[in-house]
Amino acid sequence: MKKLGFALVGCGRISVKHVDALKNIDDAELVAVCDINEERAEKCATKAGLKKYYTSYDDMLKNEEVDIVSILTPSGLHPEHAIDIVKKYRKHIIVEKPMALKLSDADAMIKICDLNSVRMFVVKQNRYNLPVSKLRQAVEAGDFGRIFLGTVRVRWARDQKYYDQDEWRGTWKLDGGVLANQASHHIDLLEWMLGTPVSVMARTETFMSKIEVDDTAVAIIRFESGALGIVEATTAARPVDLEGSISILGEKGSVVIGGFAVNRMETWNFAGQSEEEKNRVLNQYAENPPNVYGFGHIRYIENVIDCIKNNKQALVDGLEGRKSLELINAIYESAETGREVELRFKPKRSRLGN
Ligand SMILES: NC(=O)c1ccc[n+]([C@@H]2O[C@H](COP(=O)([O-])OP(=O)(O)OC[C@H]3O[C@@H](n4cnc5c(N)ncnc54)[C@H](O)[C@@H]3O)[C@@H](O)[C@H]2O)c1
Repeated sequence: MKKLGFALVGCGRISVKHVDALKNIDDAELVAVCDINEERAEKCATKAGLKKYYTSYDDMLKNEEVDIVSILTPSGLHPEHAIDIVKKYRKHIIVEKPMALKLSDADAMIKICDLNSVRMFVVKQNRYNLPVSKLRQAVEAGDFGRIFLGTVRVRWARDQKYYDQDEWRGTWKLDGGVLANQASHHIDLLEWMLGTPVSVMARTETFMSKIEVDDTAVAIIRFESGALGIVEATTAARPVDLEGSISILGEKGSVVIGGFAVNRMETWNFAGQSEEEKNRVLNQYAENPPNVYGFGHIRYIENVIDCIKNNKQALVDGLEGRKSLELINAIYESAETGREVELRFKPKRSRLGN
């Protein structure tokens, strides 16, 4: 069957992951790349082995045959770019996380894709980390019995230089705080394991960097199942990254996945399991290679291709991507109002906007 042609909009840091992933997928072909920053576009094209690059996505999409457009621009610009591209060119789109900052923007993106019969996929590649997929299997199989507690921790080091490298970083309009950016993967994982959240209480602070947004957030979440969830997220760890982890505790077992990027199975304890079985899981699902973005981009894009070719439901489509964005907005709303916020909800005072 024909390879699916991909085009990248945005040739910044994350584009490297997309170029590498696409090189490793038989059914995919990277056809074109563009960035308004010519130097970045050229560098990305060279890395991808492409002879040409573009500095406008309109020029690129008018001139090239593509099936899927991957939007890798600053987070707050995803809605504008996605909506414009779907309206004008009716292409399937992959949107990097977070899909948007404002919930109303996420809704508009979902609507425009539906109206134009194209599919949208939101990148949550950590769902494909080896230990994370093993954990999800255990949750689906009911191995934990009743799950009562889930915790995610993001303790990363992002210094002033990191925030100063691009103007969009650390702003409410284009980046959002530590929850919208760095911890959005972990919040997605917590929700994926624990189900629908019903309320949240939170606090946020800016401790270590001169930025508009927070660099630290804590939240307590209540889930429909009765379980409690805890989010601890910071970019203010010093001097280096400490962890990106998830722990799930149930009446019959406990699992902890740690490492820098939820990439290392640290604890796998279930009542009645043999030492042999425990060691087998700890060894087999021990560690994804140590990279802060994880190694899921290949598996994630393979899922996108499978969904398009075989008309399957995506692991993370627009509605699925919207779930964690709603929770993140509720956390910001609680931090702003000092009150417990119930979900589902429409943001009124979320710092990400209404
Ligand atoms: N999945 C992950 O783990 C992961 C990791 C890092 C970043 N991201 C996400 O990827 C997105 C980009 O992050 P980044 O670190 O690569 O940022 P970046 O600033 O390095 O790159 C963004 C690029 O978009 C370009 N751009 C802006 N407007 C454009 C336009 N109209 N047309 C074409 N290009 C345009 C900029 O010039 C810039 O080069 C963010 O939403 C971020 O949250 C996801």
